[in-house]
Amino acid sequence: RKPVGAPEDASPRPVTKVGVLGAGLMASQFALLFARRLGVPVVITDVSQERVDAGVARITGEVDKLLDRGRVSPDDANRIKALVSGSVSYDAFADADWVIEAVFEEMSVKQEVFRKIEQVIAPDAILATNTSSLSVSEMGSVLSDPSRLVGFHFFNPVPVMPLLEVVRTEQTSDETLVTALAVAKTLKKTAIITADQPGFVVNRVLARVLGEAMRGVEEGTSFDVVAQGAAPLGLPMSPFELLELVGLPVGAHVLDSHHAAWPERFYPGDGLKKLAEFGHILTRDKKGNATGYDPAAVK
Ligand code: CAA
Repeated sequence: RKPVGAPEDASPRPVTKVGVLGAGLMASQFALLFARRLGVPVVITDVSQERVDAGVARITGEVDKLLDRGRVSPDDANRIKALVSGSVSYDAFADADWVIEAVFEEMSVKQEVFRKIEQVIAPDAILATNTSSLSVSEMGSVLSDPSRLVGFHFFNPVPVMPLLEVVRTEQTSDETLVTALAVAKTLKKTAIITADQPGFVVNRVLARVLGEAMRGVEEGTSFDVVAQGAAPLGLPMSPFELLELVGLPVGAHVLDSHHAAWPERFYPGDGLKKLAEFGHILTRDKKGNATGYDPAAVK
């Protein structure tokens, strides 16, 4: 189904090479998806050779897992691995026509990366950001051509979650938008077009649920009781499992950005920041399966 608000009379641009800025967990997951589904070369970069190598190794390991589970053929596994490369130099992005960033979730960091990358890439290359809660237009204000920028927000775990938020700013051109929609379709994701507002659509709903769950704990209810109380909502995991999946610092950041935009409607992420320093909420067995909630986490 065509996403609501998709432009009628613009054509997507071909994507023949993808550049991924950032080689962390989420970036590696979607770099692999681009190589697998678009079948084009994908180059990833980060601030150090070590991080780049770790990103490439993570992708290779995931391809091996897909092969073990019979999800890809040996030929496809080799083909995907050959498509992925890493570089610490932006020069490797010169011939990319789709560049997506997933660097540290801070406006100044993302703007700096975009400012630099725009010097290197072709004038018609599209820029995308995987930001979960920062203003895409503010990010694009440092670009000489903000019409080439679009939000392209994946959800954790990237290979499994079917939805993708495509964020249109006032400046995003129709051509950029339809290219993003075509890319999403090739990735086999369901795209929704959202306005450039804090939290877009999904995190606005989620920040409310997760914020209330955290507030319950901060006011003295145990993790267990809040999780049991949330169970009838039918979420696939408890709010606290979800926070660990997303990453506690990321969760805190999401709550803070919503609180900054609507102080009367969202709780700040202070409690989560403390939990992020503590390191976890759940107790886990040796295989990493959750076994319960750590009572020490509330102290
Ligand atoms: N990474 C990669 N793949 C994963 C995974 C992970 N962390 N966790 C599970 N999977 C895969 C499994 O390998 C399995 O794949 P196959 O079918 O190919 O074997 C599949 O997902 C189903 O896994 P399971 O049967 O083990 O587990 P499940 O049925 O309990 O589902 C789940 C696991 C998909 C993570 C499910 O619990 C879920 O949907 N949780 C909610 C996730 C969610 O809400 N995400 C949005 C977070 S918000 C966000 O990301 C945005 C932000 O900006 C902060």
